[in-house]
Amino acid sequence: MNAIAAVLRRAEQVHDLSRDELVFLLADHEYDREIFAAADRVRRKYVGDEVHLRGLIEFSNICRRNCFYCGLRAGNRGLGRYRLTPEEIIGLAQKGWEYGYKTVVLQSGEDEYYSVEKMCHIIKNIKRLGPVIALSIGEKTYAEYEAYKEAGAERYLIRIETTEKKLYEDLDPGMSHEKRKRCLNDLKKLGYEVGSGSLVGLPGQTIESLADDILYFREIGADMIGIGPFIPHEDTPLKAAKGGDFRLSLKVMALTRLLVPHINIPATTAMETLHRDGRAIALQSGANVVMPNITEGEYRKLYALYPGKACVDDTPGRCRECITAKIEGIGRTVV
Ligand code: 5AD
Ligand code: SF4
Ligand code: FES
Repeated sequence: MNAIAAVLRRAEQVHDLSRDELVFLLADHEYDREIFAAADRVRRKYVGDEVHLRGLIEFSNICRRNCFYCGLRAGNRGLGRYRLTPEEIIGLAQKGWEYGYKTVVLQSGEDEYYSVEKMCHIIKNIKRLGPVIALSIGEKTYAEYEAYKEAGAERYLIRIETTEKKLYEDLDPGMSHEKRKRCLNDLKKLGYEVGSGSLVGLPGQTIESLADDILYFREIGADMIGIGPFIPHEDTPLKAAKGGDFRLSLKVMALTRLLVPHINIPATTAMETLHRDGRAIALQSGANVVMPNITEGEYRKLYALYPGKACVDDTPGRCRECITAKIEGIGRTVV
């Protein structure tokens, strides 16, 4: 057996790879098929063939931040902005629950219109309907996270985006990597199930840096890790950037499955945007979660983190049917 086959066996069996081994596997393409297949086996062994669906509600595209890569950044004046009322958000969650989504994810830009009181009102009223609530609304204080938790939120998604401090702070002006990590710590301390993750293909991001991201995911004890390619947006400072590569993003995801075998990994919408079967391929390379959009109407288009986002012209009902068919089409089951 050659040396690489032994390394892959160790990754699959004892979930261990050194930084140098990760760098080698990320840079080389010869073993990609073996890596994806190993991640698929580890996924099956640890989290099974069931795919978990989480209904995503994009309730406001207003954001006070200015992340260079994101179409929702405050500096993008060309984008039509919207915010849903608390009652509209609760209504969408109700429909999501009726569609069979056991978890709803409430996502928005960092929009200060939603005070702690408003958010807690929304959370309490959704909670009463039945679903598990995950929030994805950015950086808040410990006290705010605590209030949401008490109101009934159980999960929180906040990507580290990149573990490289300088790159993070260069691309997210005014934001601090330390603060970002503090948010993750606070959320863990409060007993949330925490989701994090990263972008692949940011300008200036190296293979070494991607290897560090994977090692970081193992270290933080997250419940979920979402990885997606960076897709350049026309109305941002990074419009001329090259953007992330589908295979490399898939490989970061697969290697994350090998090193952190028990976690939830979503097949991200950004993957679907770069490849028409992106989510199905991701589900066969380590992923076990899909987050279909349950936002309605024009708002889908306006939640333009990046261009070409999958499903913007579809409806919640259509996505629900479509994703179920895709999952069953690859021999898996919807929970
Ligand atoms: N391409 C891909 N993903 C992006 N995000 C923001 N902008 C982009 C982009 N241009 C991701 C970030 C953020 C999540 C909500 O969307 O990782 O955490
Ligand atoms: Fe705002 Fe999030 Fe986009 Fe940054 S990535 S501009 S915080 S919506
Ligand atoms: Fe939205 Fe397929 S999941 S159309």
